[in-house]
Amino acid sequence: MTWVLKSVLLYGEGEPVDVLLADGRIEAIGVGLSGDDAIDGAGLVLLPGLVDLHTHLREPGREDAETVETGTLAAALGGFTAVHAMANTDPVADTAGVVEQVWRLGLEAGHCDVAPVGAVTVGLRGEHMAELGSMADSAARVRVFSDDGKCVSDASLMRRAMEYVKAFDGVIAQHAQEPRLTEGAQMNEGITSSKLGLAGWPAVAEEAIIARDCILAGHVGGRLHVCHVSTAGSVELIRWAKDKGWDVTAEVTPHHLLLTDDLAATYDPVYKVNPPLRTQSDVEALRQGLADGTIDCVATDHAPHALEDKESEWGAASPGMTGLETALSVVAKAMVETGLLSWRQVAERLSETPARIGRLDGHGRPLEVGEPANLCLVDPSATWTVDPRTMATRSRNTPYAGDVLPARVVATFLRGRPTVLDGKPA
Ligand code: DOR
Ligand code: ZN
Repeated sequence: MTWVLKSVLLYGEGEPVDVLLADGRIEAIGVGLSGDDAIDGAGLVLLPGLVDLHTHLREPGREDAETVETGTLAAALGGFTAVHAMANTDPVADTAGVVEQVWRLGLEAGHCDVAPVGAVTVGLRGEHMAELGSMADSAARVRVFSDDGKCVSDASLMRRAMEYVKAFDGVIAQHAQEPRLTEGAQMNEGITSSKLGLAGWPAVAEEAIIARDCILAGHVGGRLHVCHVSTAGSVELIRWAKDKGWDVTAEVTPHHLLLTDDLAATYDPVYKVNPPLRTQSDVEALRQGLADGTIDCVATDHAPHALEDKESEWGAASPGMTGLETALSVVAKAMVETGLLSWRQVAERLSETPARIGRLDGHGRPLEVGEPANLCLVDPSATWTVDPRTMATRSRNTPYAGDVLPARVVATFLRGRPTVLDGKPA
């Protein structure tokens, strides 16, 4: 079965061309091409399939909130062809057995590739290093390791983990949160938290860990990736580390590019997330950092939660928001409509760079003949209204319910096979 995408704009640039997909690859790019099936792509932007470095799929353990099947379908609908599945499952993904299970579930579901993230420490407890080598050697070929949800706060463990994964070109993805500075924290520490009487999560708790870890990465000569950067000061620190030539990369979430901490005044726990929503000046700095390349990529931190964990009072609610199905639209709103990024740069920050950081072969590749047909077709001029009831994710905790967002994913192809057509599961 071959497909031809008619009159599409590669990266939103140049003249419209036809793209023929055959045998899982881009077979030809030109004009007047035909295939077994066709999509009219007039006015549509063709991007490499998006790659998420930070997805919570919740399986095993919380299949009531998400499964690999529902989460990867949500990913495909959002234009993703690969996601990294975070390790804070139950049991924790801290052994070859668990990461292979998640990887196999991804293969069976078939909506997008699943690259399991391995825990850095046993049980995410921050005490003993997990079996990083056996996870790397497993069928899942883990290259990204993270205790996300928790910070690897022990500097010695962090140092040893960065040293250890050098052997197989791995990276430690740090959830930067100094635990003592964030005890009981509920939202960003600032004017709004004082007014609302909610315990604050200060910027310095993130920045102190980032500063420490960057210095460790420089010392060790290892790779550090900083998860969900949320403050202006963090952007400064990462800029400094890159100037030093250290191997440090960073991600920002769509929600930290758009939303601010004053939303906590609603006391609606849908806005509770970790790290918390920050201030408008943080948002501006994050946008600038993503635009100038200080922040390398966007990662969703898709964090689905069951109703009973989210529809409670603020203090008792679990932190996290869903994000896979809205990520590209939120980036379009925050970065493309504002003139900060072109679609070409969106391809870099949501596909090429995250694929490179995760060492994922076959993803984030150029739109060229011979390359794997992992693709995402976007209507840049469409708008849509977010309706949590019609989303593929099993959870309902989107902060954008009822919002009208720009740009719509029309189709997604995984190795030449459509996973999404007409904005619906294929
Ligand atoms: O908001 C968050 N939710 N932040 C995290 O670090 C973990 C995540 C989750 O697992 O729900
Ligand atoms: Zn995290």
